Amino acid sequence: MPYEAYKVLHLTGLILTFLGLGGILLRSRDQGPSRFGLVLHGLGMLALLVAGFGLLARLGLNWPWPGWVWAKLGVWLLVGALPTMHKKGILPLALGWLVAGGAGVAAAWLGVAPKPF
Ligand code: HEM
Repeated sequence: MPYEAYKVLHLTGLILTFLGLGGILLRSRDQGPSRFGLVLHGLGMLALLVAGFGLLARLGLNWPWPGWVWAKLGVWLLVGALPTMHKKGILPLALGWLVAGGAGVAAAWLGVAPKPF
């Protein structure tokens, strides 16, 4: 698959992930998780990861990965953990929204900015 196709898939994954996350975080813990939100979030996370590795391959970035790739994987793990953190009440709702937004901005910066590390 060409670089551009991986990028479209990566951005599709980003949109699905954060749409799902929005649906999940709009419900209180007592209401229980939004099933549709969880499905969107799961599909989006998978697309983000697969396309992320596709992009790396097309950029010729092999092992050992540069630091920004590890940082993106960290952000990906954090975004993946947010629904469980919300369900278990580890993260207050307002903080959940803040972390989700911050994580998205951080991952985008890491992907777009001239690679700082
Ligand atoms: C929450 C997780 C993530 C978000 C929100 C995210 C977001 C983005 C965005 C907005 C871009 C820029 C796309 C553009 O140029 O138009 C990008 C590029 C990229 N991302 Fe991610 N990403 C995430 C996770 C990952 C992961 C886990 C990997 C690696 C396995 C990855 C690898 C890449 C690569 C290689 C690029 C292309 C960089 C370049 O063209 O120089 N991303 N990402």
